[in-house]
Amino acid sequence: MSGFDTRWLDLREKADHAARDAGLLEKATAHADAGGQTVSVVDLGCGTGSTIRAFLPASTRWQWHLVDNDTRLLAEAASRHNGNVHLTCIQADLSDPSLALFSQARLVTASALFDLVSASFLQRLVTSLEKPGCGLYTALNYDGHCIWEHAHEADARIVTAFNAHQRRDKGFGPALGPVAEGVLRDILQTAGFRVCVAKSPWRLGACEAELQRQFISGLATAAAETGLLDQALVEDWRSYRLDHADSACEVGHWDMFALR
Ligand SMILES: C[S@@+](CC[C@H](N)C(=O)[O-])C[C@H]1O[C@@H](n2cnc3c(N)ncnc32)[C@H](O)[C@@H]1O
Repeated sequence: MSGFDTRWLDLREKADHAARDAGLLEKATAHADAGGQTVSVVDLGCGTGSTIRAFLPASTRWQWHLVDNDTRLLAEAASRHNGNVHLTCIQADLSDPSLALFSQARLVTASALFDLVSASFLQRLVTSLEKPGCGLYTALNYDGHCIWEHAHEADARIVTAFNAHQRRDKGFGPALGPVAEGVLRDILQTAGFRVCVAKSPWRLGACEAELQRQFISGLATAAAETGLLDQALVEDWRSYRLDHADSACEVGHWDMFALR
């Protein structure tokens, strides 16, 4: 088990799909489709297969290799997509440096993953994208920004503490959290890739009140765990934010497509 459950992934998927940058999705699709008859796509940290759904209908033309360390999520992805896409499931810990997954890949994808990983993981990943013409597409990586329609005096302090928590080890060494975009861009450019980046914020409102409630609770709990803030302040903030979970909120993310 990875700690990411199906319910949470399902709850966020509609907002994720609305947020993904359409231009980068199109670039990645065009790149994969130009790969000929048998196109191999490797999705890292696949969860229940959200990336396959984001690429529909093009994803039905490709051979997917779904990688996750959580067997329940892999089984869920397989049960949702066996029959509509070609897929193989690979249960593996991506932090294992000996993994060799990309020798045939035309495209490597990852969503909501690269803010969890370390700089050394990204360096290893980029080094292993050695097949000529292999592209990298990533989406929905948290960028450290949360903005609410109704301000609370502790917003900035809570987000700062949450962002510090995002830098803790999530299984890949010290996590990059909100600074992952710049680190990945530098690694890719040094390796000779051309890099396109776009913002992909969640824009949430009353229709996403339950997603907001879950996000706020997770954010408050993580902020409290850092020990940087007074507990009463965190609980006051949590309760205020839960009361306003049906108003507007923006959570920053970034997407990227890179090709050599
Ligand atoms: C935030 S979820 C994103 C899932 C999916 N990509 C999506 O967008 O819905 C992160 C995923 O990475 C997987 N994951 C986390 N650490 C991992 C590791 N060390 N090896 C393999 N998968 C991992 C989790 O099991 C989870 O499915």
